[in-house]
Amino acid sequence: MAHKFDAKKAEILDSADRRRFLNPDSILKKAGLSRDTIFADLGCGSGYFAIPSSLIVKKVYAIDVQEGMLDIVREKIRVKKLTNIETFLSKESSILLPDNSVDVLFMANVFHELDDRGGILKEAKRILSGRGRMIIIDWKKMEMEMGPPIEERISEDEVISICEDGDFRILERLEAGAYNYMLVFGKSAT
Ligand SMILES: C[S@@+](CC[C@H](N)C(=O)[O-])C[C@H]1O[C@@H](n2cnc3c(N)ncnc32)[C@H](O)[C@@H]1O
Repeated sequence: MAHKFDAKKAEILDSADRRRFLNPDSILKKAGLSRDTIFADLGCGSGYFAIPSSLIVKKVYAIDVQEGMLDIVREKIRVKKLTNIETFLSKESSILLPDNSVDVLFMANVFHELDDRGGILKEAKRILSGRGRMIIIDWKKMEMEMGPPIEERISEDEVISICEDGDFRILERLEAGAYNYMLVFGKSAT
């Protein structure tokens, strides 16, 4: 089983240092969101992206396999009195949302943690609307002082090849700072 980021260390995800090298506001700006967007943050962790995205879009689904992470998100929702975020405890290979219900499926530093990439890509296709986009941010596959060990990382080209096998097509390769890449995919037939 792939290593999962420990919910007990969630404060690392919200650190000031991380805001400098992977700033949520500038990443979300690049994600092309609008007031009409239905946004699903799969592997939302402590809500580093889910919380600020709720100020931009119509609806946010904050989804994770760890209840401990969702507890942190729920507390932030309560404190900030947000009304357009719903949290979902999901299963490793399934996303518990209806067909065609999401405009943007977002995964930040999650793809390398997935045990069943093929299963998640099938689910991604199912929940995304026809013109929906899937955005994958992950660690560059190179040695650095932070992040997962290099053998757990997955390169940008590998992600593209896996997603193309899963019937997605690459639309954009975007800059996401010195340590991460950002890829935007559409469904193949659209
Ligand atoms: C490194 S954390 C990143 C959290 C958040 N996306 C961020 O960038 O701050 C990865 C998260 O993905 C979650 N995760 C891993 N596999 C998952 C899966 N199959 N479905 C949903 N969440 C998953 C983990 O529980 C963890 O909270």
